[in-house]
Amino acid sequence: MLGIIGGSGFYSAGYAENLRYLEMVTEYSDVVVPIELIETDKPFAFLARHGKDHHIPPHEINFRANIDALREAGVTEIVAINAVGGIAEGAGPGAIIIPDQLIDYTWGRQSTFCGQSKRFVKHVDFSFPFDRALSDRLISAVNAINEQSPAARPVMTAGVYGVTQGPRLETAAEIQKMRRDGCDIVGMTAMPEAVLAREAGINYGLIALSVNWAAGILPSEVTMEEIEVVLADGNQFLRRVLSIIIDD
Ligand code: HPA
Repeated sequence: MLGIIGGSGFYSAGYAENLRYLEMVTEYSDVVVPIELIETDKPFAFLARHGKDHHIPPHEINFRANIDALREAGVTEIVAINAVGGIAEGAGPGAIIIPDQLIDYTWGRQSTFCGQSKRFVKHVDFSFPFDRALSDRLISAVNAINEQSPAARPVMTAGVYGVTQGPRLETAAEIQKMRRDGCDIVGMTAMPEAVLAREAGINYGLIALSVNWAAGILPSEVTMEEIEVVLADGNQFLRRVLSIIIDD
């Protein structure tokens, strides 16, 4: 079954019917993980990464509980939605990016299911963090929506996602360093989400919406007001992309 993880501004699958709320109990948290289960002929699960009212900041997301809850609900492939900042030329506000690589700059997050308490060690291959087939489906869906739209959105069909710790945005110098490292976009939540999915045997693909130029790309500062505007509009586009993926 498909699982969708919604990011900023994306807190529900938006279904009023055929909807069941699950409250998943996992060994990784004391609180339940709420999941929407949409029970149509193409069933899928939806989880809001930041909670329904965006009360969980990136560094406090319980990624292990989220992935374990989705796995337990029967999810075998995940499409993750992320709002990001653009670093590369084609990744300005409003652009859609389906990254094919990532660099992890996060620290102190619980980033594996394996460990002493579990009494197992598992070294997963992570050469290619995003599932190719799922990424290709996302690219086709984006192209299909773009073809129907009067003004097509810029799309990057590959790119490197640099994952920072947050919740603060980066300094201009940090973004310059990330650019030298080869990052095309910057966000705070792809890790350890992607690697935990890999450990859990769940295929993971990611679609990102650029909501701002990353720090220092423009001389001005990044404002939350401009981010909100791009986010609202972009999430409508992403919902159309997702409806194709769900019906695939
Ligand atoms: N940096 C990190 N995460 C982000 C940004 C950014 O500029 N924009 C949206 N998420």
